[in-house]
This record gives sequence, C-alpha cells and structure tokens, in this order.
Amino acid sequence: MPDSTLTLARTGGIELARIVYTEEQIAARVEEMGAEISAAFPEGDRLLVLGLLKGSFIFLSDLVRQITRPLHVDFLVAASYGSGTTSSGKVDLLYNPNAEFVGRHVILVEDIVDSGTTLSRLVPMLEERGPLSLEICTLLHKHVAADLIREPRWVGFDAPHEFLIGYGLDHAEDYRHLPFIGSL
Ligand code: IMP
Ligand code: MG
Repeated sequence: MPDSTLTLARTGGIELARIVYTEEQIAARVEEMGAEISAAFPEGDRLLVLGLLKGSFIFLSDLVRQITRPLHVDFLVAASYGSGTTSSGKVDLLYNPNAEFVGRHVILVEDIVDSGTTLSRLVPMLEERGPLSLEICTLLHKHVAADLIREPRWVGFDAPHEFLIGYGLDHAEDYRHLPFIGSL
C-alpha cells in the first residue's frame, strides 16, 4: 500500500476515499496486457499505438514497453471533460496525428471508457484513414454505456462506478501523477 504521508504530500493534503488499484496491481495487469496484445498479432505485424491524451500518457508508456512487436507511437488530443466529474457529451479533437495508418494495425489506447462518447466520435474518424485493423485497448472500463460503437478488445480492469484519479486520470488536471488509482 502507498505510504499515506507521501500520498498527502502528492495531493496537497486532500484525503482520497480509497485506493482502488495499487501500483503493483497495475504493473502486473499492464504486463499481461502487453503479452495479450503481442500474442494477438503474428510476428512481423506492424502496429501503430495511438494514445488518447492526456489521460493515457502513463498507461501507454508502460504498455508499449510490454509489447514485443514492431510499433510506432502517436497521440490524439481530444477534450471531452470540463472540470466536473460527469461527461459533458462533447468531444473536441485538438490534435490529429500525421502517422501512417495504411499497412498498420492501429490500437487506440484509452485511460477509461465511461459513456462511450469519445469512442463514438473517434472510431469512424480513425477508420477513414484505412488501417489494416482498428482495436481499442483501455486500462479501465466502467461498463455503463448501453451500446458502444466498438467494445474494447483489451480491458485492464472492470472499474467501479466511481470517479477515479491517478495513473494519468485527472480531476480538473489534478492527480494525474499519482502512481496508483484512487477514488476521490
Ligand atoms: P466517455 O467519452 O464518457 O467514455 O469518457 C471518456 C473520457 O472521460 C476518459 O478518457 C476520461 O478522460 C474521462 N473520464 C471518464 N470517467 C472518468 C473518471 O472516473 N475519472 C477521470 N476521468 C474520467
Ligand atoms: Mg480525460
């Protein structure tokens, strides 16, 4: 378990409701996910791992080091949340990557799938660029969306219906740097 004095130093004195996934649990699951993704593609397949910023930045950097296939990394910048803890239902694309999609299997890496609004906007846009395949990998899945445009092929954890922070996830830009995932 993380040291509580250290945690309070990191949060500026804010007490978290609870730790949901420890650093060790996350590391073990990310290692498994890297193996699952590697096994899903024959040796020699070329991947493009597309991280959705900002939330996926830590997950993606740990995940790609566990994938044993040739790959490129790029990012998408989408803004879908304001400072609240509920989805605004609006997705703005602030950066669209130049990366070559043709001839590559594209893996879209998300921090968390909640309402599915982000995916419904991004999947058709990415499909248009002609990847060999397009699959979604998410660290957390809340399983609240009635019908997702595409179910993630790889899911780290089935997440509780709470507002989660840490390991890339923020609340109004705070807490992204926590090495574990907690509930506010
Ligand atoms: P969706 O479009 O509703 O599926 O929401 C996806 C995005 O909302 C994620 O990429 C996160 O940035 C944000 N989000 C959803 N749930 C949470 C949460 O519990 N904590 C932090 N961010 C969240
Ligand atoms: Mg986000």
